[in-house]
Amino acid sequence: MTLAACDAGSPAVGANAEAEAGTKAEAGTKADGSGNAQVNTKADVNASASANAGVEAQASASRAAASMAASAVKVAAHEAGQTRAQVYESVRQMTALGKQLFFDASLSGSGKLACASCHSPEHGFAPANSLSVQLGGNDMHRTGMRAAPTLKYLQSVPAFAEHYHESDDEGDESVDAGPTGGLTWDGRVDRGSDQARIPLLSSFEMGSTPAKVAAAVKAASYADAFRAAFGEPIFDSDDATFKAVLQALETFEQTPELFYPYTSKYDAYLAGKAQLTQAELRGLQLFNDEKKGNCASCHISQRTMDGAPPQFSDFGLIAIGVPRNRALPVNRDPHFYDLGACGPERTDLKGRAEFCGIFRTPTLRNVALKKSFFHNGIYHSLDQVVRFYVQRDTNPEKFYPVSKGKVQKFDDLPQRYWVNLNTEPPFDRKPGDKPALDEAEIKDVVAFLNTLTDGYKAGDGAGNNRGNKAAAN
Ligand code: HEC
Ligand code: HEC
Repeated sequence: MTLAACDAGSPAVGANAEAEAGTKAEAGTKADGSGNAQVNTKADVNASASANAGVEAQASASRAAASMAASAVKVAAHEAGQTRAQVYESVRQMTALGKQLFFDASLSGSGKLACASCHSPEHGFAPANSLSVQLGGNDMHRTGMRAAPTLKYLQSVPAFAEHYHESDDEGDESVDAGPTGGLTWDGRVDRGSDQARIPLLSSFEMGSTPAKVAAAVKAASYADAFRAAFGEPIFDSDDATFKAVLQALETFEQTPELFYPYTSKYDAYLAGKAQLTQAELRGLQLFNDEKKGNCASCHISQRTMDGAPPQFSDFGLIAIGVPRNRALPVNRDPHFYDLGACGPERTDLKGRAEFCGIFRTPTLRNVALKKSFFHNGIYHSLDQVVRFYVQRDTNPEKFYPVSKGKVQKFDDLPQRYWVNLNTEPPFDRKPGDKPALDEAEIKDVVAFLNTLTDGYKAGDGAGNNRGNKAAAN
């Protein structure tokens, strides 16, 4: 849980700069682990895209990154009349500060909890331990109700919308994809800076206050750097300091080589630079097959129409009936339910029954580095998760409590909300039917999920065949 660990946690840094081929040289930046690669500009990236179709996917990933960086740059332009170079310098400074803040436990009420305590760089910025929910609060014994998610690949999560329509180049604009997007499991905030406020101030997480955070920053080794980045008056008011902290954290979370490097084996496979094993290939097919796993209907596995790499989520908020996690202290109260978008954490959709029980579809990139799955962290292996998908309806007794011979199906969602539950395959069966995947097929899907971990080095038992476009689909 150190700054060095963060660098170590991104073995992809060098590799990715290379994979992006022309991008690196043309943009004139060097990925050094501190976020410099953010200064890629649209023009530079486009140039490299036309140079080589093989790097197109990478390029459009960088394009997304570039536009994120551009938004950060806009935010950064707090002084009117800054030149572009000054703005980029300001983003660089903020990224470096954001990184320090991310690892700084002195921001918390207990002095013991940093962002990185729950979002470990070595674990795809998800927790290092296998607790369902993490410990926090001033005594470090308090818990919330949700598993800490990965912080990677959040750059492409759209702002929350009740009725989401894809843009023209991504898909069919006329289709209403339903509630989609937003950060956290229930999509209740849109920006990283608004999100960072939640754990900093939550009594069961970092349990701090703007004043405490400001005092910690003033006393920190990076106080001078903070002043240099935000200007002399930044320490005049605690609120201004606190806002700057949130902004620096948001900027850090947009460091492409740490947060969206696209360096998994599957990315190499899409680019024709690696081959999948037989088991991984079978897993991919089962993952995509609409009559088998049908996973890709929500966890998108194909490039977008403009060639951007898949995010393994369509970011839809969906109810899949995850069982109640009876190990969570909040669930000792039989009347308590975490209903996702309709509350209680999220308050703006309270009382809107159609939003009850829905949670945002997470990316599956780096999912094999996680140790707890689903919003309440109930499962601890990918095997269990995939088995839940395919046997939930054929063998519900394996997942839900049985009382007096009757299975209490969907025990974490009051019956009046069951109409919200998804009924597409593999959720289209009943007891006695054949599960959508058998045990061997479950293993294959898990093998495939293991190809989604960043940091794959071409040559790890696969061909490093640059420019092989035949396999690029
Ligand atoms: C005690 C553990 C804990 C700490 C400390 C913590 N987080 Fe989190 N983080 C979580 C949990 C749990 C969630 C999911 C919250 C929810 O859905 O309500 C989350 C969600 C997030 C998300 C949204 C991810 C997504 O998929 O939408 C971001 C971004 C994030 N945290 C950043 C941070 C930052 C920045 C800090 C430090 C200021 C931090 N976290 C500190 C546990 C933690
Ligand atoms: C109808 C949309 C949908 C389909 C189909 C679907 N998922 Fe999911 N997936 C979700 C949602 C929504 C969640 C989060 C649910 C929750 O926590 O309440 C999720 C969560 C997961 C998680 C846990 C990730 C984490 O970080 O905790 C894994 C793993 C996963 N899905 C794999 C799969 C696999 C494998 C398949 C195919 C067998 C599949 N999913 C099919 C929507 C879907």
